Amino acid sequence: MWERVNKGNVVLIGFMGSGKTTVGIRLSYKWKRPFLDTDKLIECREGRTISEIFAAEGEEYFRALETELLKELSLKIHNQILSVGGGTPLREENRDFLKQIGTVVYLRVRPQTVYERLKGDTTRPLLQGEDPLSKITELLDKRWRLYEEAADLIIDVDDMDMDGILERIKGV
Ligand code: S3P
Repeated sequence: MWERVNKGNVVLIGFMGSGKTTVGIRLSYKWKRPFLDTDKLIECREGRTISEIFAAEGEEYFRALETELLKELSLKIHNQILSVGGGTPLREENRDFLKQIGTVVYLRVRPQTVYERLKGDTTRPLLQGEDPLSKITELLDKRWRLYEEAADLIIDVDDMDMDGILERIKGV
């Protein structure tokens, strides 16, 4: 068992479209701390988009890259804001890495909100197809417990403006 050390990092988790990146960028400005996003880091390293990685190599390959990157970040980042892909908390080892990295903030959203925000989006391979709202509902049903298990703080973001969200994170 490892000891949890406060490294000054905040980790944003949540479903696709929950606002992790937007909140992360705003926090980063406000707190003057660097912002990192695991999807962006993976895309940079691989030299291709998440959609291209899923199409060429499949989801498991992407999940292995995610875990490898989290492990690396858990050893080296301090005083940073990190956002991770919506599927990251699904693996138990990833949930451990998230907690080792920092205070985990879960941005919780309703399926309908995700649907409205991501209508027409083509960058999320898991939501392409005939009926995205059913897919969102199905994935959230499978995931919500794991998100809550990983979280130190849960914020219901559907009806909240950005200042309200930042205010809730202020105290962590
Ligand atoms: C995924 C979420 C995406 C990205 C990939 C898989 C998921 O990240 O990692 O498409 O499984 O929920 P965002 O949550 O940043 O959209």
